[in-house]
Amino acid sequence: MSIACYENLSENIVKSFKLDTKNTSYVIGVVDEEQFLGHMYYGARLNDYHLAHILRINEAPFVPTKNNRDRGSFLDSFPMEYPAHGLGDYREDCIRIETKTGNMGLSMNYISHKITSGKPALAGLPATFGTEDECSSLEILCEDSHTGLQAALLYTVFEDVDIITRSVRVINAGKDTVYLTKVFSACLDMDNKDFEAISLHGSWARERCIQKTPVGHGKFSVESTRGKSSHQDHPFMAIQTKGTTQECGEVYAMNFVYSGNFKAMVQNDQFDQIRMVMGIHPDGFKWKLNPGSEFQAPEVVMVYSDEGLGKMTRTFHDFYRNHLIRGEYKDKKRPILINNWEATYFDFNTEKLIAIAKQASELGIEMLVMDDGWFGNRCDDNRALGDWIVNEEKISGGLKYLVDEVNKLGMKFGIWFEPEMISPDSDLYRAHPDWAIAIPGRVGTRSRNQYVLDLSRRDVLDYTYESIAKILRSANIEYVKWDMNRELTDLGSAVLPTDQMGELYHRYVLGVYELQDRMMKEFPYLLVENCSGGGARFDPGMLYYSPQIWSSDDTDAVERLRIQEGTALIYPLSAMGAHVSDCPNHTVGRVTPFETRGYVALAGTFGYELDVTKIPAEDRAMIPEQVAMYHKYNDLVREGDYYRIASYSENNYYDCYGVVSKDKKEALFTFVQVINRANYHSRRIFLKGLDPEKRYAIEGEEGTYTGDVLMKAGYLIQNPWGDFKGRLIHLTEA
Ligand code: GLA
Repeated sequence: MSIACYENLSENIVKSFKLDTKNTSYVIGVVDEEQFLGHMYYGARLNDYHLAHILRINEAPFVPTKNNRDRGSFLDSFPMEYPAHGLGDYREDCIRIETKTGNMGLSMNYISHKITSGKPALAGLPATFGTEDECSSLEILCEDSHTGLQAALLYTVFEDVDIITRSVRVINAGKDTVYLTKVFSACLDMDNKDFEAISLHGSWARERCIQKTPVGHGKFSVESTRGKSSHQDHPFMAIQTKGTTQECGEVYAMNFVYSGNFKAMVQNDQFDQIRMVMGIHPDGFKWKLNPGSEFQAPEVVMVYSDEGLGKMTRTFHDFYRNHLIRGEYKDKKRPILINNWEATYFDFNTEKLIAIAKQASELGIEMLVMDDGWFGNRCDDNRALGDWIVNEEKISGGLKYLVDEVNKLGMKFGIWFEPEMISPDSDLYRAHPDWAIAIPGRVGTRSRNQYVLDLSRRDVLDYTYESIAKILRSANIEYVKWDMNRELTDLGSAVLPTDQMGELYHRYVLGVYELQDRMMKEFPYLLVENCSGGGARFDPGMLYYSPQIWSSDDTDAVERLRIQEGTALIYPLSAMGAHVSDCPNHTVGRVTPFETRGYVALAGTFGYELDVTKIPAEDRAMIPEQVAMYHKYNDLVREGDYYRIASYSENNYYDCYGVVSKDKKEALFTFVQVINRANYHSRRIFLKGLDPEKRYAIEGEEGTYTGDVLMKAGYLIQNPWGDFKGRLIHLTEA
């Protein structure tokens, strides 16, 4: 068993729990009469569990006295496992309530625990999973004796993959109703090791840029209150020891399996102690808990690596591929698609789509995706969301006819929806103005001229599901692009009682999950690609419902290097929606070689976002070659280990990353020279992840090299002459 419980470790430590993965350990102690839960250790695996000295319980001002009430300083310095609000720990807390008397303070202390094999599901929420052989779980039940509020802290240990997950279930075991005003899912207290924080920031079309920030005294946080995980910040935070590279240094990472408001924060306190927390953002959150009721907070995935960021990345990739992503396409190659968005925008009809499909099928493309504009009166982006009825003026002959024609060409058919929205100019809104999220009597804030549906309502949710399911049942549709193009504002529901209005943000997210879950169950063969104005909801929560997510509306090959580097820091390449588009690029106006656009898109799901009947003939002629490349390399890209060799964001000139098969018999490295520099004839690249003993042949070249030569002495890439030039280096065991 990877979880052990030890009794009476020392005079003060009455119990301790040691959670072990192959390379890491996590230790918790129960202290003193009041049964405080202390965090003792997380890091490289320990052989021993005797860590009594770590909690500093004999050092002033840390000393707890018999009931800990006459030395408040103890609470403000003790490394807490799940710190609560208002009783003397002034660092960032994890749980806060409002009682009927208006009080907020509480303390979550140990009362019991249980250890089981496997991992329980989290009611209504996406979560990672594993069999009884793959993981075991510890649930520690804590209680605030004053209010009777309980918190069940769940830890699951995935021993072989070096992952520990955490979540919290709050139970009102008291006699009075309380309001939960804050509930984070994980906390990590430790001494500072000159840490710097790593976070991902961005904007529309510029998602997930990597940022490193020294952790000074005070608090550094990333957060979203936009109702979705957002373009701007990402539900991820890591701290790394200064100087950490891809290979060396310690990294502690947290990633939130949730798609709504979140907060992740790292704090360095007066004693140079670090506290790192993650959970649902407390702003706008207030959950009513009647006696006997529960609230399930989402899950945090934790990774510790003492082999740098590269190891952290590969741990996340393996874990998400095997323990989060589900469904028909989990381990499968995805069909190469062509999407008509950048090809036609709203200006399309059956004829145009069939012309694109015909040309695309001749070139080897395998699926046509009809994007926004096929329904209701949707002639532009100002109207008709909610009217999920085929516009037969555009789609003459009807949807089934179009799909059948595309199928006859040997291609699959996919469709775009934005189910969570309602346009003020729609039949749906005219019939049900109260279905939009809004503050009664206040003119609502529109974004892209649309409102958000109140998915906390059962009637709205059921109607929404039926309206899209009806379309999916009407023809042989094999792919759905599920979009979400605005943020939540004007929080108000026409049906939620006043004292439950603070539940709307979270109930909305639960509604989205329920809709996608129902769709998965009724149409298990569907390939679903989530999307949100590009990549504003690229998070582990959505990955539970779709094996791939559209990474960004920016399809420029150079911009994509940064976006895909940031995305691949956590998420497997199999999940990253990436397409070749036309030039000048529609977002930045840059012109890059068609060949390079193909190399960059190969790092993701691969497809096209252009009018294949209109692009230059020489570009079109390259498509069959790119299609062949995709089929040749995709198994490796989807399943291999990812290695970052050079980052264009850091060096300003070139980018290089690779994937190596698990058996190390094959590898593919992608090199892109973004900006050429005078007088560089070649660049020496130090490959990574190879077997030092194996001998490799490089495709298209004479001779063979051992892995250790390619990794230590390196490989010379001749200057490809010019900007935006790419090259693939394909190695196979000789
Ligand atoms: C979002 C998506 C795009 C496209 C448009 C359609 O911006 O990210 O790919 O589907 O919506 O309106």
